[in-house]
Amino acid sequence: MDTIIEPFRIKSVEPIRMTSRGEREKLIREAHYNLFNLHADDVIIDLLTDSGTSAMSAAQWAGLMQGDESYAGSPSYFRFEEAVKDLMPFEHIIPTHQGRAAERILMGIVAGPDAKIPSNTHFDTTRANIEATGAEAIDLVIEEGLNPDLDHPFKGNLDLDRLEDVLADESTHVPVVMLTVTNNSGGGQPVSMENLKGVKTLCDKHDVPLILDACRFAENAYFIKQREEGYADKSVKAIVREMFSHADGMTMSAKKDALVNIGGWLALDDEEWAREARNQLILTEGFPTYGGLAGRDLEAIAVGLQEIVDEDYLEYRMASTRYLGEALTDIGVPIVEPVGGHAVYVNAKKLLPHIPPLEYPGQSLAVALYTTGGIRGVEIGSVMFGRQPDGSEEPASLELVRLAIPRRVYTQSHIDYVIECFEEVYDRRHELAGYEITEEPPQLRHFTAHFQPLVPDSVHKRTATETRP
Ligand code: F0G
Repeated sequence: MDTIIEPFRIKSVEPIRMTSRGEREKLIREAHYNLFNLHADDVIIDLLTDSGTSAMSAAQWAGLMQGDESYAGSPSYFRFEEAVKDLMPFEHIIPTHQGRAAERILMGIVAGPDAKIPSNTHFDTTRANIEATGAEAIDLVIEEGLNPDLDHPFKGNLDLDRLEDVLADESTHVPVVMLTVTNNSGGGQPVSMENLKGVKTLCDKHDVPLILDACRFAENAYFIKQREEGYADKSVKAIVREMFSHADGMTMSAKKDALVNIGGWLALDDEEWAREARNQLILTEGFPTYGGLAGRDLEAIAVGLQEIVDEDYLEYRMASTRYLGEALTDIGVPIVEPVGGHAVYVNAKKLLPHIPPLEYPGQSLAVALYTTGGIRGVEIGSVMFGRQPDGSEEPASLELVRLAIPRRVYTQSHIDYVIECFEEVYDRRHELAGYEITEEPPQLRHFTAHFQPLVPDSVHKRTATETRP
């Protein structure tokens, strides 16, 4: 059969509150045109993130009831540890409340003022946790990974020549190399097994441990199965195990590929680092057998890890993201090619060339999607990255809108609705106006900034004609 169906039935539903366009125009105006300020129940289809938004299975909900809330030595911890080690056979598994807590603990141990930490592309929280120690975060994704129009099977790969240069420079201290799978900040693009092995070989040569930022490890493994020679007949589970056999540790946000709403962990082979990590964990997260989570959360993760490597699930997951990407391409909406695992990234600069980068084409598109259909995506462009430390503004290299797909939440008709909204926005694209920022904090301004639409030229002209005596 050609139709790839959702490999699940729905036992429990959450109502979606429908709104009219008039209501949404009022709501977004009251939210100062910032989609982060909206109440989530004023959103019809929420594609803000795939993080912590997954629908849990009946088995996971049943697992919650098995949760043992003992302060120390909970059986839930041991079930969690066994499930992690079944896929990622590291010595020490340290639970945290989410991914960035694992990053903070790791960087507190290995980083510091004279350190440089390379990756394909560090996610924002990883970069921030590295920089908070005074260290430098370096992004070394391959050249192809920076070109949104280029088709390449593994645009998340790390540039091995540049890594060799960094590692060979005796004057720098590189405590760990990281690799983000899939590369979220680069469009959800995968890393090949060959590249992973190449990175590990260089790390071994220079005696530096390799740590995977593994939030979307199962999606990455499925891409390897589909795209890399020699892996078509291997199970995803075997590919996952092989991926982690080339690493010395991992940071994980369970809010992605562990199919839960909260959780994470830090895994390490190194005894000494693990000891220090557990000491830090006790200071800020909790005792090492719960680490900032409830026993029931650990149970839900243990079950989620078994479900995520199910190949019927992964086939559906990839097909549904690709379905949206291909439909947008058919309409004429430019997207980052090829479609990544967890999201479709729309190229707003190309869709709205009449809006200059510092009038925020991504923001304009994101607001139009909300007023047209109640869809919430997120701008990843000059609003997010344009403000410089000295307060000046520079255009970001890309002006994107990310449409992240929550796992097992929306059906194909929800996505068909999104596509229909895009058809309308595409037809009206010449009328969309830019925005100015009227209020902003000094850091991470995208979360709280206030915007004001700039009146489009066509309206200026019309008004001028109409008011002419
Ligand atoms: N690493 C990557 C690659 C991520 O995508 C995220 C989170 C984190 C680390 C941090 O994990 O949120 O559990 O602390 N990404 C979310 C997103 C927020 O929307 O892409 P966390």
